[in-house]
Amino acid sequence: MIVFSEWAKNYDFNREYNSLTLQLLIDRFDESKPYRILDFGCGTGNYLKALSDFNQFDLYGLDQSQEMLDIATKKVPEAKFSIGNHKSLPYKADYFNLIYAIEVIHHISEIEYLFSQVSRVLLEKGHFVISTSSIEQLSTRPWNKYFPDAMKIHKQRFHGLQFLIELADNNKLKHIDTITIKEERTEIVPEWFVETAKKKLFSFFYFIDKDTYNKGLQKLTEDFYNKKTWHWQYEETTLVFKKSLDNY
Ligand SMILES: C[S@@+](CC[C@H](N)C(=O)[O-])C[C@H]1O[C@@H](n2cnc3c(N)ncnc32)[C@H](O)[C@@H]1O
Repeated sequence: MIVFSEWAKNYDFNREYNSLTLQLLIDRFDESKPYRILDFGCGTGNYLKALSDFNQFDLYGLDQSQEMLDIATKKVPEAKFSIGNHKSLPYKADYFNLIYAIEVIHHISEIEYLFSQVSRVLLEKGHFVISTSSIEQLSTRPWNKYFPDAMKIHKQRFHGLQFLIELADNNKLKHIDTITIKEERTEIVPEWFVETAKKKLFSFFYFIDKDTYNKGLQKLTEDFYNKKTWHWQYEETTLVFKKSLDNY
């Protein structure tokens, strides 16, 4: 079980908004006024904070964790925050121009609810943006070497991209784009990742058993002190959907 209250305290240690992902959101903007944006699973509000710099949007954030929301509220006081989950979004129908869910949907098992709720609260021609990773992309993460059990966990938690596209389509959300972000470099095992592992700042750490976790952490720490290198390969996918009532 993930302890969100613990995670929230340290969440910003290894997270910022990703500027490429932020740009994908910016690419969706149009001249509508008001232009309402919902960050579903907003966490500590890093994306909302970046969007607040534009000073021209009505910003909303929803998360299931009060501890995450407390931090987000301090960071982006002008946004309207609600506690809740994917089963019932507390907004009226046809309300938002843009909804996005970044690094959230692998936390959700009954994902059908999310698509039907998003379809309800999104305006026609509004966009829904999901950032996630495929199993193939997860299989190249550099830390798999230390925590090979992570892949078993990912297979249980992450949704296939094609499955998501079909589910969206069943809810009047037409798939219009797929964008892949890729980073690659060889580097010394970085200190930030050792701290991330110690503080369990990726959710899979909560699911691997104690012995495997301790063994992986020990090897990782040794490699860090011995200045060993790893090949950093990081790929993720953003899916873009548009609510369309045509052809349904
Ligand atoms: C990895 S964090 C991502 C936070 C933020 N989107 C970001 O990119 O920094 C996942 C967040 O999703 C939230 N979450 C998980 N399941 C949720 C659900 N069913 N409904 C709403 N929020 C959820 C968690 O509380 C957590 O804040």
